[in-house]
Amino acid sequence: MLLIPRETTIFQFVTTLFCLLTYAKPDDDLNIPAIAKYFGPTSRYEDVNLNLKEDILAVNTSILQPPSAQCRQIHLTAIIRHGTRYPTSKNIKKMQQMYQLVREKASGKESWLREIQEHWRMWYTEDMDGRLVQKGADDHKHLAVRLSKLFPSLISEEKLRGGRIKFITSSKHRCVNSTEAFKAGLTQLWGIQDVQFNHTVNDALMRFFDRCTRFVQDVLNNPSAVAEVKRFEKGPEMRTVREKIADRLGVEHSLITEDMAGAAFDLCAYEFTINAVTSPWCWLFDEADAQVVEYANDLKEFWKRGYGHDINRKSSCLLFHDVFSRLEKAANESKSGQQVTEAVTIQVGHADTLLPLLTLLGFFNDTDALTSTNYLTQARRSFRTGRMLPYAANFLLALFDCGEGELRLQPLLNERPVPFPGMVDGQTSSMPLYRDVRARYRELLQGCDFESECQLFQHDAEL
Ligand SMILES: *[C@@H]1O[C@H](CO)[C@@H](O)[C@H](O)[C@H]1NC(C)=O
Ligand SMILES: *[C@@H]1O[C@H](CO)[C@@H](O)[C@H](O)[C@H]1NC(C)=O
Ligand SMILES: *[C@@H]1O[C@H](CO)[C@@H](O)[C@H](O)[C@H]1NC(C)=O
Ligand SMILES: *[C@@H]1O[C@H](CO)[C@@H](O)[C@H](O)[C@H]1NC(C)=O
Ligand SMILES: *[C@@H]1O[C@H](CO)[C@@H](O)[C@H](O)[C@H]1NC(C)=O
Repeated sequence: MLLIPRETTIFQFVTTLFCLLTYAKPDDDLNIPAIAKYFGPTSRYEDVNLNLKEDILAVNTSILQPPSAQCRQIHLTAIIRHGTRYPTSKNIKKMQQMYQLVREKASGKESWLREIQEHWRMWYTEDMDGRLVQKGADDHKHLAVRLSKLFPSLISEEKLRGGRIKFITSSKHRCVNSTEAFKAGLTQLWGIQDVQFNHTVNDALMRFFDRCTRFVQDVLNNPSAVAEVKRFEKGPEMRTVREKIADRLGVEHSLITEDMAGAAFDLCAYEFTINAVTSPWCWLFDEADAQVVEYANDLKEFWKRGYGHDINRKSSCLLFHDVFSRLEKAANESKSGQQVTEAVTIQVGHADTLLPLLTLLGFFNDTDALTSTNYLTQARRSFRTGRMLPYAANFLLALFDCGEGELRLQPLLNERPVPFPGMVDGQTSSMPLYRDVRARYRELLQGCDFESECQLFQHDAEL
């Protein structure tokens, strides 16, 4: 029997009941922390694509629905984030400090706390610094196999051997390793042992953000560019989260700083993403807390890489033009009856590579900006890094030739067809004509010049 205090409103009662029901839902996967969906960029790919949990190689080929049976796949460009990785050394240092703090100061009596203090081992070392883990190599191997099933005429043994599948990667070891894993996925699938397939390292393309001077100066090295993030970290929602962590541990509130709260969240998230275990660290957060931390992470990405500043998007102009000129070359070749030289381009980079490009193209654009004061009204935002950018997140552009010069371009995000923003028009929304896509992005195709956008003071000079 539930005891309902007199002041409780019907709404509160229903909410409570709902929470109890959700909590007890029988098909809940007990191996997954309840807060896993709030892990942001530390999310697992299979928690975004749930059908992969049963079968990591599952592919539903009927998601691609060209308007006629004549349509042939002629080119695929895939821009992919590296797979699951260790935390960076900066984060590992904070995790070590948090662990020390809990070992030495926590006075709570809960069993999960004793578990941390007595049994949990601090196994992260600074030299792990963002390296790809085995799970991350598997992320890319499996993705390669799935994409070969979804695009069988493009990602094929014949085309790989024929040198018509090109690999481009960022120079970071986690990206190079991911690229190697993607290739291994294909060579193992087809039992190829006699050839080594090469890749090109291209940081101008895959780490454009380092080279965009205006972005580096105005955003990366400019604390005022992320003022909203700082305000939220010091604001009432995050303060409550920190105090709840301190109370659960039985330590003074002042000991749980922003860094320590972040480190605790990372400990829960990485233990799960890397090792698939629900660690006792996860007990430091309930769902409401996790939603607040998720917002803090999304807010940071919004201001550092997303819509927050125009230069964030524009820093990807070079990659944008590269992608579209590759599509144009394939389109031209196909229209003139030639064989498409480059059937597939696999480009491996970072969340920081994908997000500016996705925002340049207008994806995940909510009506209102994410700010330090609109946490509640942003509850239904589309800008959610956990959905957009899990490990091995991918943006695919598949070009189809439907005969008589009719070309169509299908965008997919994390292997799901999506419409181009601003091009949703009934039946043709999900596989628009290639020329309509070029018209949609005409302004960017004619402008978006990396050199002038990224040059310092260009905009002042224009005034
Ligand atoms: C496969 O995709 C099609 C089209 O989106 C959908 O109707 C169907 O239910 C999916 N099948 C499975 C097994 O998910
Ligand atoms: C990444 O590459 C390095 C160097 O080739 C190798 O030693 C390491 O085992 C690789 N890691 C994974 C997870 O594949
Ligand atoms: C890969 O590069 C090596 C050395 O540069 C070269 O000998 C080999 O032919 C290349 N392999 C392919 C498939 O292009
Ligand atoms: C494609 O064809 C158009 C029109 O013929 C031409 O203007 C353009 O330069 C070609 N682009 C590429 C990349 O071949
Ligand atoms: C994002 O949405 C805002 C408001 O709806 C709009 O003004 C802006 O042009 C959009 N940005 C992009 C890149 O589509």
